[in-house]
Amino acid sequence: MQIPSSSLDPLASGATTATTLSPVLAQDTTGPAAAPAEQQRPAAGPPPLQGIPGQSLPEADLEAVALIYDYPQAANPVRPGLTEPLPLQRWDAASHGTGPTAIHPLDLASALRCEGPLTSPALAAHILRIQAGDALELPAVASSSLLVVLRGRGALQRPAGMGSESLAIAWGPGDVVVLPAGPTPRLQAGEESSLFWVHDGPLLHYLGVTPTAPRFRPALYRAERLEAELARLEADHSSSRANRLSLLLGHVDLPASRTVSHTLWAMLGLVPPGAVQPPHRHQSVAIDLILDCDPGCYTLVGTELDPQGQIRNPQRIDWEPGGVFLTPPGLWHAHVNTSGRTARLMPIQDAGLHTYLRSLDIRFAGGGLGA
Ligand SMILES: [Fe+2]
Repeated sequence: MQIPSSSLDPLASGATTATTLSPVLAQDTTGPAAAPAEQQRPAAGPPPLQGIPGQSLPEADLEAVALIYDYPQAANPVRPGLTEPLPLQRWDAASHGTGPTAIHPLDLASALRCEGPLTSPALAAHILRIQAGDALELPAVASSSLLVVLRGRGALQRPAGMGSESLAIAWGPGDVVVLPAGPTPRLQAGEESSLFWVHDGPLLHYLGVTPTAPRFRPALYRAERLEAELARLEADHSSSRANRLSLLLGHVDLPASRTVSHTLWAMLGLVPPGAVQPPHRHQSVAIDLILDCDPGCYTLVGTELDPQGQIRNPQRIDWEPGGVFLTPPGLWHAHVNTSGRTARLMPIQDAGLHTYLRSLDIRFAGGGLGA
């Protein structure tokens, strides 16, 4: 389901007004009288330039594709009808929690007017369903893939290739596997299984590139180790942890970014009963997977804070086990647990990439790192 986001989109009512153009300036086709956007942009890349084999491209062809915009027309292209803003989106567990062996993409390609499937401009998230005895291949041209085992047991195999050795991993509930670029992995389920799979293939597709080498080594975060670390956090009763008990997954090959891959960021978090987290925001996109909760857990999302540091006119996204929602970049958000039991979530973001670009811009209401 798509949550109405007009009140959340600061650009929805502020689209740049088209101005009268001189003949040398490009036509702005995003104004009220513009043709439907589907007619404005080809779905699959630009048309080929017509050169003569063995000869240089005519200069006229080079000039024909060169556009010049009046500044207001192009200064902020993220607006409806042009570069579509990300919606505040939720996928119910009922849509993917059961069924035969299949890959269920959480796809926003239509809403974003991009080639899909993709969940955000850089990431593609999927629910994997594998019946006992079945196998599933995970083909993706990606530089990072992350798998979270929601339930079931099985084995992951990947042949050697692209500079990496072969892999054989037995997986069970709660395990997390991170893979760099390489041969296609294959999952064989020993019992009925569900997994969450996120990769950065959409980013590579946009760039028009394919990986040539892994940027980090495969990594395995066993559920037992994660549980032990969460128990250690829960034993720490300091006030700074009252609203949030979170583990950030890191990698020994990525000491500078402190992220799970060079593009991906992943966190395993607990939200204790009664917690109302202070709002925070970041420029990375968050794909939030709810691992466990009772009714009464939700996230508040909005564009700005009031003088008390609370989100002004927030939209509420209710949680359910196995549900997923997308938090667009730059929006303030806060997790709340009014149930009587601790809730668990795993947000996965493109924050590894943003950290490298120095564009993460994470901010916390009231300062600090409490949220
Ligand atoms: Fe966040």
